[in-house]
Amino acid sequence: MNILVTGGSGFIGSHLVERLLSEGHKVVTLDDMSTGRMHYLSQVMRNKNHKFVQDSVTNRKAVDKLAKQCDVIYHLAAVLGVKNTVDNPLKVIEGNIDGTRAILEAAYKYNTKVVFSSTSEVYGKNPNMPFKETGDRVLGAPSVHRWCYATAKALDEHMCFAYADKGLPVTVIRFFNTYGPRQNSSQYGGVVSRFIKAALTGEPIEVYGDGTQTRCFTFVDDCVDGTMKAMDPKANGLAFNLGTDRPISVLELANKIRELAGSASPIVRKSYEEAYGPGYEDMPARMPDLTRSKEILGYNPSVSLEEGLMKTIDWFRRNMPN
Ligand SMILES: NC(=O)c1ccc[n+]([C@@H]2O[C@H](COP(=O)([O-])OP(=O)(O)OC[C@H]3O[C@@H](n4cnc5c(N)ncnc54)[C@H](O)[C@@H]3O)[C@@H](O)[C@H]2O)c1
Repeated sequence: MNILVTGGSGFIGSHLVERLLSEGHKVVTLDDMSTGRMHYLSQVMRNKNHKFVQDSVTNRKAVDKLAKQCDVIYHLAAVLGVKNTVDNPLKVIEGNIDGTRAILEAAYKYNTKVVFSSTSEVYGKNPNMPFKETGDRVLGAPSVHRWCYATAKALDEHMCFAYADKGLPVTVIRFFNTYGPRQNSSQYGGVVSRFIKAALTGEPIEVYGDGTQTRCFTFVDDCVDGTMKAMDPKANGLAFNLGTDRPISVLELANKIRELAGSASPIVRKSYEEAYGPGYEDMPARMPDLTRSKEILGYNPSVSLEEGLMKTIDWFRRNMPN
């Protein structure tokens, strides 16, 4: 099939592009390189079935041309990162809504299947765990920027489902704390990559809050596996959780990474206020119900946390600047 991957030079997108090509598809990567990196695509740049286009998903003309030529669009391009939501809320809101609108409009014109990457953040602080895809969204006040990413992604989902009602084949996938090689390790990145970078450089591993908050970390290969399966027409019109159902506290995670990396870095606590400014609210736990993903997609995450962390640590060891 001919497949367009937006955000294909990013962390998850680049793994997806490699996997699609390895399964015989023709792939066009569309990325504006805001956080994507060219070297993440180094293994596929010479592949004759791969084409790279540097442009924004908000460029309707470019998106229209690409949508016309493909059978499936994986829409991963986005502005993310918890710190971005508090530091750059407008960038997050516009970066998640404008592009998705352009993608859906073009896809609808050509009846092209869309797989939209959403997030576990949409559940907000819903206390009913594990989260079912039909579960409620429970968020704080709109004046609190922390919720703008969850809100923008949820509005994107509303657009997806509105187009589904009009006949567009579209599937929503909600990623739960994906980690692995190439994850952004800056202050705008994910907790696993930040901890690994600190562990490998001997810097303090900073745990925000008291560290008892739990998350279900998902290795990128498992996440890509579910993402591939979401192409199937039987997934049309539905949302799917893609994560693991093995929670671990952030403090335990820090200890595990320190141990696996053979690091002497101290583990230090930092308040949410110090990390994100006043009024930041974190969820004490987040865990997906995987029943629907397992039954309909045949999704079965198989990489243990230890195995995934070791692969990620190895990658950072080989790729971190000295
Ligand atoms: N990593 C996670 O744990 C996680 C969790 C939930 C949801 N997601 C979602 O998965 C998707 C991929 O996230 P990621 O972790 O790989 O992040 P990433 O930042 O590595 O990838 C995003 C990519 O989108 C590109 N991009 C941003 N704005 C663009 C634009 N206007 N036009 C074209 N390209 C643009 C960036 O350059 C980057 O390559 C995102 O939609 C994100 O919201 C990720």
